[in-house]
Amino acid sequence: MTTEPPIQWFEEVDSTNALAARAARAGDVPPGGVIFAARRQTEGVGQRGRRWLSPIGGLWCSFAWPLGNPVDVLPGLGLRVGVACLRSLDEMMSSVGTAVDLRLKWPNDVLLNRRKVCGTLCETIASKWGPTLVVGVGMNVNNRVAEGEVGATATSVVEATGSEKDVEQVLLALRGHLMAAVRTGGLPGAWLESAQRGLHGPEGWTAIRDGLGGACRARLEGMADNGRVMFTCLDGPVSLVLERAFPEVHFRSSRDSGTT
Ligand code: BTN
Repeated sequence: MTTEPPIQWFEEVDSTNALAARAARAGDVPPGGVIFAARRQTEGVGQRGRRWLSPIGGLWCSFAWPLGNPVDVLPGLGLRVGVACLRSLDEMMSSVGTAVDLRLKWPNDVLLNRRKVCGTLCETIASKWGPTLVVGVGMNVNNRVAEGEVGATATSVVEATGSEKDVEQVLLALRGHLMAAVRTGGLPGAWLESAQRGLHGPEGWTAIRDGLGGACRARLEGMADNGRVMFTCLDGPVSLVLERAFPEVHFRSSRDSGTT
């Protein structure tokens, strides 16, 4: 029988990802992993080093897990983590009774009624104890975002449904899905199917980078079996299919102070 990693709750931290990175460097992550969760973060970090607002009412947590063989776990990880969050929110919504539109914004964000409700940040931390995987999840649950600086593009569960949730229960449910995501390698059928079914994309023609330093007008065609999103690019009379790069996991060495 597999045991679930324990959850450590804090009232306030700088960033649960930074806390997890410090624990990894200090050799304080147990073999079965640990989850750090905070009611509030003062220096929450988003993708590409952006600030992540983390007031009371949201779920701000990071799962730290010693990586046995990174080659087994990392391919497809970003997408599996996105699907884990999508599944958690999907289950939560089934008890709400309000019709909502939940989508995976490739590779690892979740949109609720076309606004971001959940973002994830996966990192690996290298230290003398070996590599540790850190999966950070930020989910707007009972916090209000509509009036704030990200209000135009973000939402929360309470804003979309009028229903407050017990954040600790939300984390317990998420933990199960996250554990399944890190115990799986690649993109087995059920994960790929969830991602394909939930995939959000721009409708019609949109501008995307073509990977050669230029841009082209393209239309989303869907997701290939390897998890990559497929676009048809219309540049002149010929259409071609492009694949955008696979989701990246950011690497930080033990010398890299990162966000800590
Ligand atoms: C994104 O930009 O979409 C990723 C957001 C990830 C935010 C979470 S909140 C918990 C964890 N701690 C952080 O500082 N960041 C992640």
